[in-house]
Amino acid sequence: MSSILLKTPIPGPASKALMDRRKKAVSNAVPATTPIAVAQADGAIITDVDGNRLIDFGGGIGTVNVGHRNSRVLAAVREQLDHFLHVAMPVSTYEPYVALAERMNRITPGRHEKKTLFVNSGAEAVENAIKAARFFTGRSAVVCFEHAFHGRTNLTMGLTAKVMPYKKGFGPFAPEIYRIPYPYCYRCPEGPRGGKCCQADVARLAGVFAGVVDPDSVAAIIIELELGEGGFVAAPPEYVTALAAFAREHKILLIADEIQTGFGRTGRMFACEHHGLVPDLITTAKSLAGGLPLAAVTGRADVLDAPQVGGLGGTFGGNPLSCAAALGVLDAMEAEKISEHGVRIGNLVRERFQRWADRHQFIGDVRGLGAMMAMELVTDRQSKNPDKDRTTRLLAAALERGLILLSAGTYGNVVRVLVPLTIADEVLQEGLGVMEAALNSIA
Ligand SMILES: Cc1ncc(COP(=O)(O)O)c(C=O)c1O
Repeated sequence: MSSILLKTPIPGPASKALMDRRKKAVSNAVPATTPIAVAQADGAIITDVDGNRLIDFGGGIGTVNVGHRNSRVLAAVREQLDHFLHVAMPVSTYEPYVALAERMNRITPGRHEKKTLFVNSGAEAVENAIKAARFFTGRSAVVCFEHAFHGRTNLTMGLTAKVMPYKKGFGPFAPEIYRIPYPYCYRCPEGPRGGKCCQADVARLAGVFAGVVDPDSVAAIIIELELGEGGFVAAPPEYVTALAAFAREHKILLIADEIQTGFGRTGRMFACEHHGLVPDLITTAKSLAGGLPLAAVTGRADVLDAPQVGGLGGTFGGNPLSCAAALGVLDAMEAEKISEHGVRIGNLVRERFQRWADRHQFIGDVRGLGAMMAMELVTDRQSKNPDKDRTTRLLAAALERGLILLSAGTYGNVVRVLVPLTIADEVLQEGLGVMEAALNSIA
């Protein structure tokens, strides 16, 4: 039996009616990648308000690695509902916050003394990581990367690379932010040397910094080990090693932004684990609480303890329902072997993507760690000109057949997969079959 069930064209009349209300009531600046309105979501299936069943390869932009309405998450939230909704951690302590902090300290890379603080969104986690890094080091500069995405608040917008839609018209940006090239081998003018990233060299990094900022004034380097919104480009291991050595040499804190890569997406709990990397701080959000708003900064106790009391935190940060949900997520991660599913799903997706790349010249690159897989579409393989138009048409062709797909990339020409990692193989294959039909239709 197929999972997809289409009762109306997409969008159906009830979705259209809600979208009309949305247009009148909601800021136009909030994007709507699909025109559907949701009535129900379970596992990897979304049912819209017209009764259409769709396969979800977008996973709430990577927030539901353990699946929509994971039973362990629901049970934990229901249990917490019976006790209290909010008391504010800055006022009174509660078990779910502390228990979750203990667990985050335990499961993140490194055996040193760690601490955690919880906030509401990924952007807020990044802001707090930078605040702590600046306070601890007494330095003000922050180094980030081309193609980075770290959020939409003022500081994180400054760290984010992509101008449209994230930065245009929103300046002035926070000062003391410096950007260096990301090791994006597919688009690197030099290309890999002997199969290795040409930038993976401490002396080379010193050269890059020489024209950008004094490394001894840098508080932190923040990196996505696989770019998320920037197009699912994984930093080569040799580059990560060189960067970590450079940071150590200059006493710069290394912040791994694992907001999109975390919780099994890359086939490991955290992408750091692919590199044996122990960052000073790690930011998480998205799948941390299985769909509830929660984000964390976890890392060196001396760094996170440095700022004055009251300097970090916030009214809703680490609210009890979200912390309970996150404990349910971590239980599910272990009991349901979610990271292992990430590896299996990644292998299945990679194999299909590579087969399609053999057939379609417009697929310029197939890449990704674990289930964090993507294809980059180009007008032709020689020029590598980004083909945003074809990417948009592919997403539309998939949606009209009942598959929710998301794009990414600075040039909007990357198709990414953020499918819930609990998806059954036959549902995954059905979704990939739809993707193949959609690809053929736009070829
Ligand atoms: C790597 C990364 N950092 C930060 C953010 C910002 O998170 P939020 O949208 O929760 O503020 C995102 C969101 O996509 C992200 O992918």
